[in-house]
Amino acid sequence: MADKKATITCPGETAVELDVLQGTLGQDVIDIRSLGSKGVFTFDPGFTSTASCESKITFIDGDEGILLHRGYPIDQLATSSSYLEVSYILLYGEKPTQKEFEEFKTTVTRHTMIHEQITRLFHGFRRDSHPMAVLCGVTGALAAFYHDSLDVNNPRHREIAAFRLLSKMPTVAAMCYKYALGQPFIYPRNDLSYAGNFLHMMFATPCEEYVVNPVLERAMDRILILHADHEQNASTSTVRTAGSSGANPFACIAAGIASLWGPAHGGANEACLKMLEEINHKEHIPEFLRRAKDKNDSFRLMGFGHRVYKNYDPRATVMRETCHEVLQELGMKDDLLEVAMELEHIALHDPYFIERKLYPNVDFYSGIILKAMGIPSSMFTVIFAMARTVGWIAHWNEMHDDGIKIARPRQLYTGYAQRDFTSDLAK
Ligand code: SDX
Repeated sequence: MADKKATITCPGETAVELDVLQGTLGQDVIDIRSLGSKGVFTFDPGFTSTASCESKITFIDGDEGILLHRGYPIDQLATSSSYLEVSYILLYGEKPTQKEFEEFKTTVTRHTMIHEQITRLFHGFRRDSHPMAVLCGVTGALAAFYHDSLDVNNPRHREIAAFRLLSKMPTVAAMCYKYALGQPFIYPRNDLSYAGNFLHMMFATPCEEYVVNPVLERAMDRILILHADHEQNASTSTVRTAGSSGANPFACIAAGIASLWGPAHGGANEACLKMLEEINHKEHIPEFLRRAKDKNDSFRLMGFGHRVYKNYDPRATVMRETCHEVLQELGMKDDLLEVAMELEHIALHDPYFIERKLYPNVDFYSGIILKAMGIPSSMFTVIFAMARTVGWIAHWNEMHDDGIKIARPRQLYTGYAQRDFTSDLAK
């Protein structure tokens, strides 16, 4: 029973008392569920003031720049865990024992191949298709092959679907890249790590042995950890909305991929690198900052700003450190990193960005690392989607565990009042 109350008094109505619900961390929420039955709707496009659900998976404190997965801070996970261990924690809520982890890892490893007939699905796409279009289409089509994991009311079906998606997304993602290149698909290898297997499927060819660079393997695993989950972001909310109708897991994850593709969300990493390439040199930064501040210019500083973080995105800090490590390991000096660091320095001292609390987000440095690893910008959001799949599944499962209720918001209608119709067209 909530002991805190809020009161809403609508014009001409008696006051309505509402419960204030308290979480473990973060702000309290006003429970407005009873308002609908009283014919009162709240108005909140973009959900800037709306908690859409209760969740135990991830907590973000935007003011303090805190990100916790099941209570564990992201910087500790990024430096001391692995993507598969973080996946276990996100899915099951607790750290695995050594035995539990070995079983989990073996199951994921043993399901990385996809149905051989799916390889023919790729050939329906043009070679120059954006890999996100292919990923979205192929992921949705998995429902046509894996009928034993479609019953969303069966927890075992949901668990099988979770393993299938976690296991197969790297394989499908790498196939999107190989298909674009016109190179043969590379089968997964069970002797490699999750990140190492992905890099091998991306860069190996049948003509010679490809040895995974352990520094790049660790960097990729860290990038996957940093992108694994992030509370009720646009794509996760999309997965929850799609799942609320009872849609199968493959369709829900495909919906999440579609939402993530947008440049305001997961597409920002690709857009950020393009922006840095367009800026090209420090001397051009002032002009781009002027455009970013110009209300009449749609240009935004990609990789900057966040709906929740009004402080440094803790993932951006780890990403910047990883960026320096990878470039040092590869003996590379990327002028774009110099541009990015100068852009960050200038923006963080500019009143426009300071007043709006705009800081670099997870997408600001990721593109430079991925580019240094030889990954084309068209694949950046594919890698984001691959990493976020475990977060999407965790939220989809949590929604089912809590009992799904179809997401069906209402609206403020400002169209025509009723009017009679007669056609003006020639009979
Ligand atoms: C991700 O939600 C998540 O958790 C997402 C994510 C995840 O892990 O799932 O963290 C991943 O999507 C990170 C964000 C990646 N997107 C970008 O980097 C694109 C650039 N950023 C902006 O489009 C923007 O900051 C958003 C979309 C990220 C957030 O937008 P909001 O919260 O709706 O804020 P807003 O657009 O209302 O901006 C507030 C003000 C506005 O100015 P005023 O009208 O108040 O004068 O800040 C300005 C905006 O014009 N502003 C920017 C800006 N971002 C906001 N101005 C210039 N450049 C920017 N990047």
